[in-house]
Amino acid sequence: MQYQWYPGHMAKAKKQMLEDLKLIDVLVELVDARIPVSSKNPDIEKMAANKSRVILLNKTDMADDRITDRWVKYFEDKGYFVVKVNSRSGAGINKVKDVILKACEEKIKKDREKGILFRPVRAMICGIPNVGKSTFINSLAGKSCTKTGNKPGVTKGKQWIRLNKNIELLDTPGILWPKFDDVFTGKKIAFIGSINDDILISSEMAADLIGFLYEKYPDYIKNYYGIEFTNDNFKNLELIALKRGCLKKGGTADIDRASRLLVDDFRSVKLGKISLETPEEF
Ligand code: G4P
Repeated sequence: MQYQWYPGHMAKAKKQMLEDLKLIDVLVELVDARIPVSSKNPDIEKMAANKSRVILLNKTDMADDRITDRWVKYFEDKGYFVVKVNSRSGAGINKVKDVILKACEEKIKKDREKGILFRPVRAMICGIPNVGKSTFINSLAGKSCTKTGNKPGVTKGKQWIRLNKNIELLDTPGILWPKFDDVFTGKKIAFIGSINDDILISSEMAADLIGFLYEKYPDYIKNYYGIEFTNDNFKNLELIALKRGCLKKGGTADIDRASRLLVDDFRSVKLGKISLETPEEF
């Protein structure tokens, strides 16, 4: 199965972002703490090469804490300002304003030298679909000023948000890129729900997911489902189906239902806090 999703509205949004980059001082990129490199858009990397950069590791409540801490160092070593956040609970959010201003220190200093004292810094907020941009902005701005939703790509249109007298935010639509570098990137992006699930065959994705989980966190899934896993991912789905009573008429395993169950269990953190990649792999 091909893991790819680049509908026309994303190509259009990318063009608009290129234009808008001229207006901003700092790029604030949300990535998913479970897959910080795979959820980081390489197109944005190229477009914003000369801007100050802040990376927000979002959904830290879903990721393996020890690995998240290593990711902080990984990005700091590359010159990014980094904040760990949980946009849903608000944890880490109060650090973000200070970090945005810190990332723009140079710019603010230059403005002052030119006698410009009260110009707010402008930050563009970007990230792939479903990474949590709307939730993050709502949490940061303290009111429901953007629309959030459970479908990837729901954030539409251009929105400036004045945070306070020092910072203005530009929200952007969640975009992916035309071709993933390798098949694992696409898979991981699908697992976290950033590719429209409607275009994926759920049993194939679930089989891939169980392969990944079994390789990285064998004890978590063995303990959670209470079964002995095999080397065959589809067989493992069948075992889950039988154990969990996902059965078709006649008592055979309902692989589609077991697939949805597994993906939901992973996405709702029932299997535990799981990171799907580590800095050492990059
Ligand atoms: P987007 O604008 O980038 O597309 O993402 P959005 O804010 O709509 O968030 C997508 C889903 O991720 C939402 O869940 C949201 O609650 C959840 N989310 C965002 N940040 C975090 C976080 O730090 N931790 C956790 N655990 N979840 C987060 P949903 O189930 O699709 O919607 P809802 O039921 O929460 O409204």
